[in-house]
Amino acid sequence: MANIGVVGIQWGDEGKGKIIDFLSAYADVIVRFQGGANAGHTIVIGDKKTILHLIPSGILHEGKYCVIGNGVVLDPEVLEKEITELKKLGYMKDDKKFLISGLAHLIMPYHKKLDQLKESRVTKKIGTTGRGIGPAYEDRTSRAGIRVVDLLNKKVFREKVRENLEVKNFLIRRYYKDEGFKLMDILKKYDGYRKLLKKYSMDVVSFLETCMAKKKAILFEGAQGTFLDVDHGTYPYVTSSNTMAGNIFAGSGVPPTCVDYILGICKAYTTRVGEGPFPTELSGPEGDLMRKIGDEYGSTTGRPRRCGWFDAVLAKRSVYLNGIKGLSIMKLDVLDGFEKIKLCTSYKIGKKYYTEPPMDVTGYYKCEPQYEEMDGWKTSLRDIKTYEDLPLNTKKYLKRIEELLNVKVDIISTGPDRNSTIILHNPFR
Ligand code: GDP
Ligand code: IMO
Ligand code: MG
Repeated sequence: MANIGVVGIQWGDEGKGKIIDFLSAYADVIVRFQGGANAGHTIVIGDKKTILHLIPSGILHEGKYCVIGNGVVLDPEVLEKEITELKKLGYMKDDKKFLISGLAHLIMPYHKKLDQLKESRVTKKIGTTGRGIGPAYEDRTSRAGIRVVDLLNKKVFREKVRENLEVKNFLIRRYYKDEGFKLMDILKKYDGYRKLLKKYSMDVVSFLETCMAKKKAILFEGAQGTFLDVDHGTYPYVTSSNTMAGNIFAGSGVPPTCVDYILGICKAYTTRVGEGPFPTELSGPEGDLMRKIGDEYGSTTGRPRRCGWFDAVLAKRSVYLNGIKGLSIMKLDVLDGFEKIKLCTSYKIGKKYYTEPPMDVTGYYKCEPQYEEMDGWKTSLRDIKTYEDLPLNTKKYLKRIEELLNVKVDIISTGPDRNSTIILHNPFR
């Protein structure tokens, strides 16, 4: 059995949730390896829509193991809510099938407050989700972080929160002139989470090692997208984790040789939520139309997503960075009404043309995207389930994407529903 990774190759919200849910039918274990509740992964089955922020998108399939790896920053408040809601809907019947790494770092109330305070005070906002992601990863790196395993030991937890509050309260009260936190309040609140996390936490490294020895099929679920990667994204307009496939290994504790195939999830156009450069952005009526037809509003914050044409310069870099073996092209149906469809093939900066993205955001702001124009298909693709039924112009568009990125399209999505999916090659088969 193969192990596969699924990552977003643009700025997130590519439709990872839908495809991970689809592929979970063929997997035994689904693992999230980075990010936190900044993610919003949507799964649509018939008239039921489920948005997951922390729990892996395989959870709607009974009998699969769903795992939160050490690379995730875990907000117990969101987790508790998500578990309650899923159980109410009849999912998560077997508690033994949901596992959390003891090494995952916790999001604390002061992380969320600091995230929001920082965003509200700076002039150059990132447009974060306000979920405390940045401050939690900062603490992890500076070795001040508090992990699930630390919460399980009452004494250790108390001491770590006390130490942290000395610094965090100083910053919140003195620098931001806001209200700090009381030790006892946090301890009381997290006492309840201790019970919850004790039930699910374990040595995930050892669990996954055993799964591999038994030749189980593992699906690694990425969150965000490659251009939100803290190193390779449009820094500083990025999230605070490595979102690319390379982090599957550090973020779940598996060796780099264990993954056989990486699937790149990619919209047939481009969207971005939050601040930062976006060369192919359409700020006029065409962008509004994409937003309206694609229902492009954030799954986590409800913010309108910025929309624009497909950017092959960025997508090609992502294919390389992630070692993408196949693409899943999402939301093709959103382009149904467009007379002409554009693909950005290079950036012009000054008099020069570039097919590689610039290293600095100033380069992105200066560049003029260069487009190829193709005829639209002007007919509804909604819910088409076979490649043969796609119009010729749609096939031409897909072929052109394959040529530009030098990688094959393995999956095509023609609607939000689990079943509105064309599988040309199933990576698990
Ligand atoms: P993720 O974060 O990558 O999982 O993506 P989101 O769930 O945030 O956003 C993708 C949105 O597009 C969701 O509302 C999905 O239900 C929807 N979606 C996924 N695939 C398709 C598709 O092929 N067509 C249409 N119209 N919507 C889709
Ligand atoms: P999924 O997994 C789209 C964006 C935020 C902001 C930047 C930093 O659903 O694709 P953060 O809260 O992480 O510090 O915010 O990253 N962002 C996302 N954009 N999809 C996501 O996740 C995102 N997670 C974070 O909007 O610009
Ligand atoms: Mg999303």
